[in-house]
Amino acid sequence: MTENRIALVTGAAGGIGQAVCRALAEQGLQVVLADLELAPVQAVMESLPGHGHRAASVDISNVASVEQLFASLLDDGVQVSVLVNTAAISPVGEGGAVIDVKGTTPELWEKVFAVNAFGTYAVCRAFVMQVGDNTQHGRIINFASTGAQLGGYRSCTAYVASKAAVIAFTKALAREMAPLNITANVVSPGLIDTPMLRTRLAPEDDHKSVGLVPLSRVGLPEEVAAAVSYLVEPKAAYVTGSTLDVNGGYYMV
Ligand SMILES: NC(=O)c1ccc[n+]([C@@H]2O[C@H](COP(=O)([O-])OP(=O)(O)OC[C@H]3O[C@@H](n4cnc5c(N)ncnc54)[C@H](O)[C@@H]3O)[C@@H](O)[C@H]2O)c1
Repeated sequence: MTENRIALVTGAAGGIGQAVCRALAEQGLQVVLADLELAPVQAVMESLPGHGHRAASVDISNVASVEQLFASLLDDGVQVSVLVNTAAISPVGEGGAVIDVKGTTPELWEKVFAVNAFGTYAVCRAFVMQVGDNTQHGRIINFASTGAQLGGYRSCTAYVASKAAVIAFTKALAREMAPLNITANVVSPGLIDTPMLRTRLAPEDDHKSVGLVPLSRVGLPEEVAAAVSYLVEPKAAYVTGSTLDVNGGYYMV
C-alpha cells in the first residue's frame, strides 16, 4: 500500500506520544501532533522525518476545543484516518505519593475523568463524525494502563477507573466501527520511562518496582510505539476490540 494516511496523535508532547509520532512518521504517515500547548508539539514536529506534519493545541477535556481542532483540519482539507489517543493525566500526591480514595475529592475525580475518559470519547466522536465511508485502513487506538487491569499500585482510584472506562468504551466502539472496516483497539502500557512515571518513581528506585515484572525492567516509550505501529499496519486489519499489553509480563490475561 502506498502510504497516504494522516494520523492524529493526542498527548503528542508526552513521553509515549512523542515516540508514537516518530514511529508513525517513520512508517510514512503524515502526523497531526496535538497537545495542550503548541510550542512543545511544534518542536517535536520539526524533528520528525517525512513531510506534511502539523502541530496543534487542543484540550481534549473541552468539546469546543476538540471540535475546533477537527474543523480547522477539515478547512485545510485534512481528513484523519488514524487516531491515537495518548493524552491523559495521572495526579499524584506530595512526593509522588498515591492519592487515596479519601484524598480523592469529587473535583479531582471529575478532572481525571474529564481528560482520560470524557476526553478520549470526545476525540473519538469528532474523529467518527469526519471519517469517510470508504476510509482505507482506518484505525482508532486508545490508551489504558496496566493499572486498570491490576487495580493499580501507583495510581489513584480515579485514574485506574478512568482507564477501565477507556477499555470498555473502545470495545463498544470497535463493534460500531466494524461496518466501516475501521478497527478500534487499546494499548495498555505497564511501567514506561516517561514524565508521567517519573512523577512517582525515581530511576534509582526502579529495582523496587520491577520485582513483579517478569522482564525485570521499566519499558521504553519506543517499545509502546512499536505496538501502535503494528496496529496501524494494514496487516493488522483483523485485530479489533483488543487490548494489547506492553508491560513486560506485569499483567497476563
Ligand atoms: N508512562 C507510564 O508508565 C504509563 C503507564 C500506563 C499507561 N500510560 C498511559 O500512556 C499514555 C501516555 O502517557 P505518558 O507516560 O506519555 O504521559 P506524559 O505525561 O508523558 O504525556 C501525557 C501528555 O498528555 C497531555 N495532556 C494532558 N492533558 C491533556 C488535555 N486535556 N488535552 C490534551 N493533551 C493533554 C500532556 O500535556 C502530556 O504531553 C497515557 O494515556 C497514560 O495514561 C502510561
